[in-house]
Amino acid sequence: MAKLGIVILFALLGAAAAQFNYDEFMEDQGPPSPGLKFGYYKRTCPRAEEIVREAVRDAVSKNPGIGAGLIRMAFHDCFVQGCDGSVLLDPTPANPRPEKLGPPNFPSLRGFEVIDAAKSALEKACHGVVSCADIVQYAGRDASFFLSNGRVSYELPGGRFDGRISLENETLAFLPPPFFTLPQLIGSFRAKGLDADDLVVLSGSHSVGRSHCSSFSDRIGGTAPPPSDMDPALAAALRKQCPANPTFNNDPTVVQDVVTPGLLDNQYYNNVLRRQVLFNSDAALMTSEQTAAMVRDNAKQGRRWEKKFARAMVKMASIEIKTAANGEVRTNCRVVN
Ligand code: HEM
Ligand SMILES: *[C@@H]1O[C@H](CO)[C@@H](O)[C@H](O)[C@H]1NC(C)=O
Repeated sequence: MAKLGIVILFALLGAAAAQFNYDEFMEDQGPPSPGLKFGYYKRTCPRAEEIVREAVRDAVSKNPGIGAGLIRMAFHDCFVQGCDGSVLLDPTPANPRPEKLGPPNFPSLRGFEVIDAAKSALEKACHGVVSCADIVQYAGRDASFFLSNGRVSYELPGGRFDGRISLENETLAFLPPPFFTLPQLIGSFRAKGLDADDLVVLSGSHSVGRSHCSSFSDRIGGTAPPPSDMDPALAAALRKQCPANPTFNNDPTVVQDVVTPGLLDNQYYNNVLRRQVLFNSDAALMTSEQTAAMVRDNAKQGRRWEKKFARAMVKMASIEIKTAANGEVRTNCRVVN
């Protein structure tokens, strides 16, 4: 009986080792950035990461689009004031125009209710311990996991503190708009410590989710031939789904990836090569030899892209981290303490 127990124990250990190889992991992702730690909540809130994953699983099973929203939220939080949960703050009399109301975020950014659900479960389990900034990054990680059917899977260090500053006017200053050219995109990413490879690799998340027509209407033209390099067949299909002049009250959405719209995969790069992408910022990746070569590599090597995507998400999640000295752990993600 004892012998059987030992056999089972080793079988379990073997399975765990097969799942998580520390050396391979460090080679893939490198050590966490200063201030962040793998398993940050292991002692203070052991189920923290599981609780977030459950909230994301629940939301994504009902509406996969929310998962796309959460991946985008992780990006929009990090590029403005660092990864500090500043995108979550609601307007107040003291701060009537927070990031949330900036044009890149309102009305398109979605998934806020998932962060609220995770936070309320976390507050029940361990009051005042898990930051909203960490929840946003874990949620982006978990959404990537579910939308890729488990193929994008990575460990993410925690320990981000929540910021108290959130300004609408900083959103357009730091978040690249869809009409940006390649040098402008590279400039936005460089300003946040990310390089051209990160730009190309992370743009692959435009293989899930949707866009409002207003984000690309400049590229599909009216009755005249489109003034862009978009595949004419896609442009024609989009003209059928979008009004000629979208307005706030008449701005339908279309899928980003016409081939595998709900799957986080490297199909995006094949779409870029076929000129079947919505934004100038997507098409622009073909405008330098260096980034075009990256697009071709990612189109060919799906498994490699999945690993690179995971690594770039971890890198993005370490932008301008706040500490106890300039941050806090909010009890409600929508308001400062
Ligand atoms: C390179 C510069 C980028 C530009 C110019 C850009 C622009 C946009 C725009 C205009 C939309 C459509 C919003 C709408 O109208 O509903 C969108 C959607 C999206 N973006 Fe980006 N994006 C960029 C990079 C990224 C990055 C780095 C990520 C994540 C790592 C990301 C993830 C997403 C996702 C998942 C969606 C779909 C959101 C949804 O369905 O709610 N994007 N992006
Ligand atoms: C945003 O507005 C605040 C005050 O409302 C101002 O102090 C700050 O300089 C502005 N930032 C940018 C990037 O325009």
